[in-house]
Amino acid sequence: MPARHFLTLNDLTTDELFLLLDHASKLKRDWRQRVARNSLKNRVLAMIFEKSSTRTRVSFEAGMTQLGGAALFLSPRDTQLGRGEPVEDSSRVISSMVDAVMIRTFDHQLVERFAAMSRAPVINALTDDYHPCQLLADMQTYREHRGSIRGATVTWVGDGNNMCNSYINAAEQFDFNLRIACPEGYEPSTERLTAAGRRVRVIHDPAEAVRGSNLLVTDVWASMGQEDEQKTRAKRFADYQISPSLVALADPDALFMHCLPAHRGEEISEDMLEHRSSVVWDEAENRLHAQKALLEFLILGQLD
Ligand code: CP
Ligand code: NVA
Repeated sequence: MPARHFLTLNDLTTDELFLLLDHASKLKRDWRQRVARNSLKNRVLAMIFEKSSTRTRVSFEAGMTQLGGAALFLSPRDTQLGRGEPVEDSSRVISSMVDAVMIRTFDHQLVERFAAMSRAPVINALTDDYHPCQLLADMQTYREHRGSIRGATVTWVGDGNNMCNSYINAAEQFDFNLRIACPEGYEPSTERLTAAGRRVRVIHDPAEAVRGSNLLVTDVWASMGQEDEQKTRAKRFADYQISPSLVALADPDALFMHCLPAHRGEEISEDMLEHRSSVVWDEAENRLHAQKALLEFLILGQLD
């Protein structure tokens, strides 16, 4: 059977995503009670990082170890991938030796090309277009704090970037309404917005967009690879900071999330991470639990 991949949230069905999130919460409870688990004994995950990472690297590497397996950190600086060996050749070789491959890179097509030739499941650990692993953690966190997100209103404040695109996918899979508050010219692509239909709306005014929302989410204004645009973006996004006064316009029980790393004084005010609505530290920890569930699902083909 060909390997299942996880390049966007749409690679799993809604039912599979719900099973995976249930399993993630179970793994979290067991892990906290120090229940030993060897479900991925002798299994190996290759981790290809072409961009920096703290949460993604630590969660995948710790996750594999906690499940009895191992993870290999591969930087293009030290592998032939960084010296021009074709992605397809690298994929055939690496996937013939390991049980799953995780890739963080720039061009989304690179993970698609890798996956097309891979014998092992391939996981997108962030591209310029999507960050689906973060959405698993975000959806797990919302469920753990507030229950079902179905029918809720989520407002994305900031750049129409990789995280925002994954929120568009999540809106469809988890059946919530998504408002996107961004400066003109920083919207997600028209194709994505059109495909999403009425469930996703761009509202340029952040105060109007967050009104009555159940979840507010943001991310850095300049993503990895956009460092040259930092100054221009800081000016264009100046009115899009999430602060307690913006949260006050949302539903009184609204949650606040940020995938981190955060830039205090830019996309969030200094005090936002510690605000009563903030669940960012649970969200970060859930990367571990959600990805352990994902690894079991992709490598073992089942969750139990
Ligand atoms: N949120 C996230 O993916 O963090 P890292 O860049 O630290 O992996
Ligand atoms: N949008 C950010 C997310 C970092 C986890 C980036 O791509 O740099």
